[in-house]
Amino acid sequence: MAISTKMEAAFNAQINAEMYSAYLYLSMSCQAQDLKLKGIANWFKVQYDEEIAHAMGLLNYLHDRGGRVILTAIEAPRTEWESAIAMFENTCEHEAKVTGLINEMVSLAMEEKDYAAIQFLDWYVKEQVEEEATADEILGELRLAENAPGALLMLDRELGARTFVAPVIG
Ligand code: FEO
Repeated sequence: MAISTKMEAAFNAQINAEMYSAYLYLSMSCQAQDLKLKGIANWFKVQYDEEIAHAMGLLNYLHDRGGRVILTAIEAPRTEWESAIAMFENTCEHEAKVTGLINEMVSLAMEEKDYAAIQFLDWYVKEQVEEEATADEILGELRLAENAPGALLMLDRELGARTFVAPVIG
């Protein structure tokens, strides 16, 4: 069954939102590099890769459903954060917003009786739980490490070990 015009528009909007997420985390990665936090810079670079994978998952699915992919301008991301804590606060806020967008997509898929899309989007619903939990956990650790440079250094090393593993979406 061909995808509805409304669902097609929602997928295109979410592709843009995921590309924006990628851009935002790449910006954080660059700022972390400037703050000499190489591990955190690595973590956000991997997060960028994840977001590109999220966008590509939606894009490929839209193709599979016979929809038309329309790429639109990506908003410029913020470029200044005073600390790693500020970056992760922003990450938590941002991921909560993305969860809202995914939930709206699922609601629309339900309205449109698009059972295939509901099933496909289930992966994103679960992924958002992970994304929010991880960002929240790191924010908590950073807060604990505040005023303890040694602890921050150790945490930075730990985050430097993150590697990108392409997710199997859908
Ligand atoms: Fe693609 Fe961070 O959600």
